[in-house]
Amino acid sequence: MSGKIVGTGSCVPDKIVSNDDLAKIVDTSDAWIRERTGVARRHVSENETVVSMACIAGQRALKDAQMKAEELDLILVGTSSSSTIFPSAACEMQHRIGAVHAACMDVSAACTGFLAVYQMGQAYIRSGMAQKILLIGADTLSRLVDWTDRGTCILFGDGAGAVVLTAGGAETACEVMHSDGQKGSALTCDSRYRDGARDLSQDPSTYIRMDGKAVFQFALSRVPEVIRETLERAGCTTEDIDYYVLHQANIRIIDGVTRRLHEKAEKFPSNIEEYGNTCAASVPILLDELNRAGKLKKGQKLILSGFGAGLSWGAALLEWQK
Ligand code: UT7
Repeated sequence: MSGKIVGTGSCVPDKIVSNDDLAKIVDTSDAWIRERTGVARRHVSENETVVSMACIAGQRALKDAQMKAEELDLILVGTSSSSTIFPSAACEMQHRIGAVHAACMDVSAACTGFLAVYQMGQAYIRSGMAQKILLIGADTLSRLVDWTDRGTCILFGDGAGAVVLTAGGAETACEVMHSDGQKGSALTCDSRYRDGARDLSQDPSTYIRMDGKAVFQFALSRVPEVIRETLERAGCTTEDIDYYVLHQANIRIIDGVTRRLHEKAEKFPSNIEEYGNTCAASVPILLDELNRAGKLKKGQKLILSGFGAGLSWGAALLEWQK
């Protein structure tokens, strides 16, 4: 038996940085950013952290699910930008929200982070190892961005999204995940560990470095491919799908995937204009917005898909049963 989503939540920082704000610090323009990425503004953390936003998103999802934190038996957090290496963001969350019976761990899969924890959550439910799971995607990439690099700083924003997964999901539920470590150099961010006597605190390698074109091409080929693979394994076709909830990396990637699947644009909701690319948070934030707007109806089929550093990519087919 698979898991079903019974609650969603999200949280973004209060501070909004517009494209015009960025044009004051790097050589760019509102027109260029909108046209090349679809981003108009992003929310950037000041006092908010991965854990503080994950707690709020998680509590909103629990409220939506009408569940108490004490009932959870597992918390998985997909993040690459928590302020601590250990304890995990999941353990810190457990303490703050009072999820005393939950096992807790973080999963590092960059922008594929939410898909990774979602798939792990499904595997825990299918194996019988857990029944009530809180899944989080949360990132503060603004802390890892080089604010002098116009090729990256325009893309990213901060946020957290959450989903409560419980046993009782549809039999069609199906997940697929892939990775290609050989192409990892396309998108990197080194850790700020001391390297012998070398001070790495200002080293460029400890900020996000990206071959934008390579990542763009990777996404355009791999995302339609993994969606088709998921549909095939689930015995479904694109006609069965009501919404594709894709990682919000660039509106041109979403449009390109739409065309490659020969699908209708209205099946691809997007909020990249408001938040930019929030890494592991983008899929659950968008899912929460669709849920709260009443757009998801019982029995509809959704595809979730994430992709990013690693390189890694994945998709999941689920039936909305809430
Ligand atoms: O979650 C996964 C994470 N990453 C991604 O999904 C990123 C995928 N890639 C992208 O979204 C795009 O590659 C970018 C938005 C990063 C860049 O767009 P592009 O259309 O691939 O631009 P480009 O890198 O080919 O640059 C074209 C031109 C260059 O100028 P020249 O050499 O033609 O004179 C760049 O220097 O645009 C210039 N440029 C900019 N101009 C104004 C690059 N960034 C900017 C900027 N403002 N912010």
